[in-house]
Amino acid sequence: MERIINAANRLPITIGKKITVSSGGIVSALEGVRGDYEMIWLGWPGAAITGRKNQQHTKNLLFKDYGCLPVFLSDQEIDGYYHGFSNSSLWPILHYRPYYIKHQSQWWEQYKTVNQKFADAILKVAKTGDLVWVHDYQLMLVPEMLKQSGKKLKIGFFLHTPFPSYEVFRCHPQRKELLTGMLGADLIGFHTFGYLRHFRSSAMRLLGVECETMVVNSDGRKCRLGVFPIGADVQSFEREMDTAKFNKKRDEFINIFKGKTMVLSVERLDYSKGIMQKLKAIDCFLEKRENKNNIVFIFINIPSREQVPEYHQLRQEIESFVGRLNGKYATVKNTPVHFIYQSLEFTELCALYNIADIAMVTPLIDGMNLVAKEYVACKPDYKGVLLLSEFAGAANELFQAFIINPYDIESMVQTLEAAMTLEADDMKRRMKGLYERVVQFDAKYWAKSFINELNKVEIMQAASHRKVNVLQELSEKLNNSRKAAFFLDYDGTLCEIRDDPDKAGPDKNLKNLLEQLESKKSIDTYLISGRTEKDLDKWFEKYDITLIAEHGFSYRSPETHRWKRLIRNADLSWKKSVREILQQHVGTTQGSFIEEKVSSLTWHYRKADPEFGLINAQQLMSLFMEMLSNMPVEVHHGKKIIEVKSIHANKGTALMKFAGGKSRYDFVLCAGDDQTDENMFKVNDSRLFKIKLGQGPTEARYNVDSPKEFLNILSRIIAKRK
Ligand code: UDP
Ligand code: G6P
Repeated sequence: MERIINAANRLPITIGKKITVSSGGIVSALEGVRGDYEMIWLGWPGAAITGRKNQQHTKNLLFKDYGCLPVFLSDQEIDGYYHGFSNSSLWPILHYRPYYIKHQSQWWEQYKTVNQKFADAILKVAKTGDLVWVHDYQLMLVPEMLKQSGKKLKIGFFLHTPFPSYEVFRCHPQRKELLTGMLGADLIGFHTFGYLRHFRSSAMRLLGVECETMVVNSDGRKCRLGVFPIGADVQSFEREMDTAKFNKKRDEFINIFKGKTMVLSVERLDYSKGIMQKLKAIDCFLEKRENKNNIVFIFINIPSREQVPEYHQLRQEIESFVGRLNGKYATVKNTPVHFIYQSLEFTELCALYNIADIAMVTPLIDGMNLVAKEYVACKPDYKGVLLLSEFAGAANELFQAFIINPYDIESMVQTLEAAMTLEADDMKRRMKGLYERVVQFDAKYWAKSFINELNKVEIMQAASHRKVNVLQELSEKLNNSRKAAFFLDYDGTLCEIRDDPDKAGPDKNLKNLLEQLESKKSIDTYLISGRTEKDLDKWFEKYDITLIAEHGFSYRSPETHRWKRLIRNADLSWKKSVREILQQHVGTTQGSFIEEKVSSLTWHYRKADPEFGLINAQQLMSLFMEMLSNMPVEVHHGKKIIEVKSIHANKGTALMKFAGGKSRYDFVLCAGDDQTDENMFKVNDSRLFKIKLGQGPTEARYNVDSPKEFLNILSRIIAKRK
């Protein structure tokens, strides 16, 4: 049977005097696929369990009876990873509160350590082909750690929170590491398309990766993105509402609230939930209302993350506001606001959901908000009204609710009034629509659709695990040759790409290598670049090697040191009109610029907004395709550039000219990193050994990560040559 290893910050059990399995949530969501998969849970048991013996005992017990593998954390780790990095740094940024971010470098260290602990624990049990499902913001680095291990796993990551817009996410000091961590997954799930879009936009802008609508191309792999709105655990609520215990509790509550309209709020005490805004709206509402005896607001606030100061302060603020409200509006017959700062028993929660006339769900931002869906799930009689913030993920689906803006207190008051006086028919119509949707797309549906999608992914290894041994194969081939030619691209191949191309001159290592190469009689070296003659002369004039400029438009032989065109009388009449069009584009696309060479004109948009740049580049491409179809030019859309160049500027043609079938070479190495180098790789000749630097689609058979690694390989293979 296939296996799913689930990793979440918390195990779905609570260790108290007894061990109890958490009802609801992801555990029951996964029940729907329990028959098809073997299930293992990995997570923090929720308390610092110390001592080897204790830990071993807990481990045995949890695994045997509950399929759970505990990841033990020390007090220090809980402090840095959980209270610190996860909840004082990440949670605020994910919930649009960059000014709440606190940063301590040891928190980040602990976050990395604990994420590695989780990854190691997963790898210890995972077998090839297993599905691994990593949950939420506490474990954002785990997918990449798993991918880098080289084990063939199907790695899924689900973010249960919102993903904020790029402008907010970019504020976080570890923004790049966090994105890279998530991108180790084969599939990333979000609750809404909005969060997915923000994530993709951040990845494009911060990591410079190429994206399609639902795919991020990174590290030469595809990371798929998907929208999977989590649903409520409807069956657990239905089952509970069928019990005698529930009926008893329900009657008890009905009796308590007899004759009053009951408005319910249930949430973790968290600044993302808009609790103060809701209280302010209630204040305005009660002020206007004549009869204050027949309404009651029940506030269930579940204690949460009390060690984080913002949560503690918010609790004080809420408690004092509730105190003032009751002081202002309580009568001998009624206290309008009941504030309960504790978790409820499941039966009580069901009973309250079931009898509440209105539920007020008012987050300022919330990944999904299950409370809204659970309230609906407890209304099989369609009696009740849901007020739901437009900033909850659930608002994308639950559109028959009264949608509110929690920042607009006045309109919240009006909506509350409208809800109180809603006609029975209208109420029923709205709630029926909501109920049908919530029941159909429940937690099981969510888990099943994510897992089905994850199961479909094709496992792609990290680049570091895809490599064949280039050094070994290259040495063998070169050792068997009498006369070899090396065609080496410059930028991105012999030298790292720099922001400022003028600063990308050769360093000491490269100079040494070129000196060695020019002294080898059995190797002819061709530096084949897109750069101009002037640039190449500036840095390589003194070397006795062949220089090829502008992608093969002209060359300088080691004998004469004089530049010549490969084709005489090339037609360059197209340049004038192309230049004019490119100039218009520079005007409209901030950050873009033109580079002009004898044989080409290039429009660069790497400094422009990536999305806007791409849109304009695509427009430009279609215009040129039509306009230049009869001209002696090649137009290509490369890495953040559109290039129009003479057809005589082609690295493949140049390579053939110097090393074609009639040449004396019995081995030809060609190496490059760019689209223009693909023209060399396309040449079909068994003497060619083709190396692509970096990632991306290529015709080359071999792959090397960086210029540094390539120089190292080159200097090793030529060391023993004459
Ligand atoms: N809940 C709970 N204890 C309670 C009341 C509610 O654990 O006393 C549950 C509730 O049933 C819901 C969850 O807490 O499943 C809250 O999820 P939601 O998505 O609304 O917000 P989150 O807490 O994840 O931000
Ligand atoms: C949110 C998070 C979950 C988290 C839950 C409770 O729903 O997305 O990952 O488990 O809140 O928070 P806690 O800090 O108590 O685990």
